[in-house]
Amino acid sequence: MRLDVVSLFPEAFTPLLNLGVIGRAFAAGLAELHLHNPRDHAVGRYRKVDDQPYGGGAGMVLKPEPVFAAVEAIPRLEPRRVLLMTPQGRPLQQVDLRRWASSCAQLVLLCGHYEGFDERIRALADEEVSIGDFVLTGGELPAAIVINGVVRLLPGTVGSAASLEEESHSALLLEHPQYTRPADFRGAAVPEVLRSGDHAAIARWRLEQQRRRTRERRPDLYDRWLRSGGQPAPEDPSPPAADP
Ligand code: ADE
Repeated sequence: MRLDVVSLFPEAFTPLLNLGVIGRAFAAGLAELHLHNPRDHAVGRYRKVDDQPYGGGAGMVLKPEPVFAAVEAIPRLEPRRVLLMTPQGRPLQQVDLRRWASSCAQLVLLCGHYEGFDERIRALADEEVSIGDFVLTGGELPAAIVINGVVRLLPGTVGSAASLEEESHSALLLEHPQYTRPADFRGAAVPEVLRSGDHAAIARWRLEQQRRRTRERRPDLYDRWLRSGGQPAPEDPSPPAADP
């Protein structure tokens, strides 16, 4: 997959290239990262990328011309999606990452600017993406999150295809607890079932833990899981009504 990032701070993305599983995916050529700075496309003596807002107000606004020029200079691969990172976007979900990883040859990520961008920049984007209901100084960290989440799903990136397969079946449930040695750590013992060698019992225990954790910590996700066909735990007091 080809990833193109348009950002005033392209250096923010170089750590991705050296980081664990994702770094190895880039090194192996499973994904290519291309960085584009609108400043390189700005004209005039000062290569201005921002300007004062029409109508007045504090702060500067990212100008449309250098962003359009940067995007228009990017080679096109199809299918491609252009994502604009903004707190006004649709909240990012695992299904989005899976959709982009499985259906795009190219993703273009446009990073917003802490004081705002010209409204006409929105026309470049196929989708606007938020990573949560909080405001950061720019779209760089959100774009890095999307890149991490997409690249780990590319075939060949994560060691075991089985673990991604498992994850996709239970994507709406939180992970079950995991343990490694020692069997007893400062009095906290590993649950007996995990040491039993009974694989069916282990699978039942894990699913039960996932259900319980999700119901307690993320009732919103648990409802979605039930609505998508998940079977409620026997002790579940009030299963929500199914979607029509
Ligand atoms: N830019 C600033 N804050 C953001 C957020 N929460 N999501 C996406 N882009 C952003």
